[in-house]
Amino acid sequence: MLRLNTDKLSDRLNTVAKFVPKGARLADIGSDHAYLPCYLAKKEVVSFAIAGEVVTGPFESAKKQVVLERLTEVIQVRLGDGLDVIKPKEVDCITIAGMGGTLITSILDRGRSKLESVQRLILQPNISAISIRKWLFENNWELVNESILEEDGKIYEILVAEKGNARKPYKENIDAGLLLGPFLLERKEAPFIKKWSMEIENWRKIFSELENASENDEVLHKKQDLLRKIELVKGAIKE
Ligand SMILES: C[S@@+](CC[C@H](N)C(=O)[O-])C[C@H]1O[C@@H](n2cnc3c(N)ncnc32)[C@H](O)[C@@H]1O
Repeated sequence: MLRLNTDKLSDRLNTVAKFVPKGARLADIGSDHAYLPCYLAKKEVVSFAIAGEVVTGPFESAKKQVVLERLTEVIQVRLGDGLDVIKPKEVDCITIAGMGGTLITSILDRGRSKLESVQRLILQPNISAISIRKWLFENNWELVNESILEEDGKIYEILVAEKGNARKPYKENIDAGLLLGPFLLERKEAPFIKKWSMEIENWRKIFSELENASENDEVLHKKQDLLRKIELVKGAIKE
């Protein structure tokens, strides 16, 4: 029987799945229904996976799904915060999808000791991919690939990192690379152009609202920052 969600993932999760190397020992953190590890186990991409969840409702759903799929030999569903569910050296690949960028970086930061055995991180922030790129950059994880896609009217970015030379993917304009993504900037695919054109429009709207606000240092600073970002992105996506 073909099961929606574990035989066929959403485009977003499918893109995350494509970056998981064959034979990986995986931890999927914030796993909700454990769709991603179930899919990867059924495709025999992973031979061992942990589905980590901090909230009991999604933890129970993940457990149910794994039992239903008869995958309890391959997937262990564990209740806990972030990387706390992983024992040292247990996994070599981590996926974290469907959360904000700052929550993802705080999970990685708090779980630093568990990253020693990890070779690849696959991260899909719903917002603020910049905070992930900055964290990777500061912690010497090299961004090795990125992907962008539109699904159900939303645009998603996926970041793939390995231990290495954090500076390598960035050219001379690091600010633009951190904000936009060096691989995405190079490729300039349709969802990328759409995302940043919409962002520029949004910044322009905020700017014109600030034009009507009474002028003080804070307003001035916000306006300068908006102008700087508009120019940076306009220039970068045109190149
Ligand atoms: C929006 S869902 C995304 C589920 C799935 N990863 C996906 O992309 O479809 C985010 C999940 O992350 C879980 N979560 C949030 N913070 C977490 C943390 N610190 N540790 C583990 N799970 C967390 C939430 O309970 C929720 O089930």
